[in-house]
Amino acid sequence: MIKRYALGTALALIVSATAAQASGEVNVYTYRETKLVQPLFDAFTKESGIKVNVISASSGLEQRIKTEGANSPADVLLTVDLGRIDDAVKAEITQPIKSEVIDKNVPAQYRDPDGNWTGISMRARVIYASRDRVKQDAITYEELADPKWKGKICIRSGQHIYNNGLFAAYVTKHGEAKAEEWLRGVKANLAQKPSGGDREQARDVAAGKCDIGIGNTYYWALMMNSDPDKKPWAEATKVILPTFAGGGTHVNLSGVLLAKHAPNKANAMKLIDWLAGEQAQKIYADTNYEYPIRAGVDVNPTIAGYGKLNADPMPIAKIATNRKAASTLVDKVGFDN
Ligand SMILES: [Fe+2]
Repeated sequence: MIKRYALGTALALIVSATAAQASGEVNVYTYRETKLVQPLFDAFTKESGIKVNVISASSGLEQRIKTEGANSPADVLLTVDLGRIDDAVKAEITQPIKSEVIDKNVPAQYRDPDGNWTGISMRARVIYASRDRVKQDAITYEELADPKWKGKICIRSGQHIYNNGLFAAYVTKHGEAKAEEWLRGVKANLAQKPSGGDREQARDVAAGKCDIGIGNTYYWALMMNSDPDKKPWAEATKVILPTFAGGGTHVNLSGVLLAKHAPNKANAMKLIDWLAGEQAQKIYADTNYEYPIRAGVDVNPTIAGYGKLNADPMPIAKIATNRKAASTLVDKVGFDN
């Protein structure tokens, strides 16, 4: 009797597990704001019939997935910035994405050589220059250390992930010694102690505190198109796409990772492939003002107005190896002091 009961329970468990898989769900853990990603998930569900359960947080998702271990419901981690992508890989919560769709549509420099992550869209780290006071329309990152900008540059903390990515790219391009010299030069040119977010750099340019601010491409578009209070900050500035001397513009990613113990792996792969598809790429371009990672999808007109993006060819995985060095240099030169 006891034996039969136990067998019944075991069967019931098998049946319910099968039912959960057949119901077509995928669990997404994300750092992205719900309003930014919900249109994507709605479109995916409409097309695939697969329900997307979203768990969003502003921090600690890697640790949460790690703590949940083999029982983690996480299928997919959707995140931004090479720093966070790299943190997730280091936390060993991922498994390789094996997909011909991804390999075909995402350029190799924007994918992990080991398959642990893939970029889904791009953003560039650029200059918000005063329309009144900055005459030039082109600039290099190297030039930010030129004394001609003394007292004229505004930027957020050098330890913020966006700057860490840019500085790590500089280290990758020029080596640590040159990067240190450059960071000292940029530091010497700052109008004020690093503070605020990217939008505040445009605010301070508009207020005349500095001539150039450093920020990501999508913030300027958001200020211009979706935030009437901040529109004057965008209007006072023009976006210049800087390049490395002899190279291109520093690009960072929003990316996706497949969780190590994904319980709905097949659906997770469907979602990941779908994110690189034309419809999702169009939504990223128009809702989030990000650059599509897939060739042939139009950039949003506001973003296109910055000029043609010539992305630097350095692989993102290579830049990620210099994150620590960049962070150490920021402390060493007292960038944030
Ligand atoms: Fe951001």
